[in-house]
Amino acid sequence: MKGIILAGGSGTRLYPITRAISKQLMPIFDKPMIYYPLSTLLSAGINEILIISTPEDIPLFKRLLGDGKNLGCKFSYKVQEMPRGLADAFIVGEDFIGKDKVAMILGDNIFYGSQIDNELSKYTNIDGALGFAAYVKDPQRYGVYEFDKNMNVVSIEEKPKRPKSNYANSGLYFFDNNVSKIAKHVAPSKRGEIEITSVLDSYLKQGNLKVCLLEKGTAWLDTGTFDSMMKAAQFVQVIEERQGIKIGCIEEIAYKKGFINKKQLKKLAESQIKSGYGKYLLDLI
Ligand code: G1P
Repeated sequence: MKGIILAGGSGTRLYPITRAISKQLMPIFDKPMIYYPLSTLLSAGINEILIISTPEDIPLFKRLLGDGKNLGCKFSYKVQEMPRGLADAFIVGEDFIGKDKVAMILGDNIFYGSQIDNELSKYTNIDGALGFAAYVKDPQRYGVYEFDKNMNVVSIEEKPKRPKSNYANSGLYFFDNNVSKIAKHVAPSKRGEIEITSVLDSYLKQGNLKVCLLEKGTAWLDTGTFDSMMKAAQFVQVIEERQGIKIGCIEEIAYKKGFINKKQLKKLAESQIKSGYGKYLLDLI
């Protein structure tokens, strides 16, 4: 299975901080935001990853992450000229996906918990589509899943005025190889975007959509406003300082997944020793 990180968009909800730089490069405590979704894909055992962003921001992502070889990964990059919606990732990324299955994660989504760390790799051989639902108190801000009494998904709606449940469509998805074909056929929504919810709905209508509930102990953090971004950073800081671990540490996950060996990890550590981040990596060895 391959992976896509969608890190486009104009970031206007965070102006002026995102006027000159992509939202997904903003710091969340001690790492750039994109490290968190990238670490989620690595946790699933995915190391061939396409990063999609704007023409202005692609060079910055390349400077940060390079070709991925030092992490035992293969990173490639593709420009999305206009923010046409989340499902556009499967059209922009069609050649990259090729004959494979694909996981997609939003570049500003932070997931944390043992369910994410330990269980994602079991979904990489999916037939159909899989979404992850998170219980939230303000579902009208999101895509919303509706379930029957056996917790089978029966509908999904984008930002409904009257949500049928409190289960939000989080920003992580696993798809089989039909996804690009399906994305090309969905009609743009009222906001002029090809919605991820429309793609999920197509799979649902074919009887091919499964939804996994995020457990209570799993955190799905929002970074869409000044407030929520600061809270996400505080969350990361509290856990990291209290427990002496790191959240979203791509080097650590690449090492634990066997993408790199001790020698390679040591090299990555030494290049970042001054900030203390490298010391953490050295202590893992
Ligand atoms: C998008 C999706 C929505 C999903 C949300 C998760 O919303 O359209 O279904 O719940 O991401 O962050 P947007 O951020 O484009 O408003």
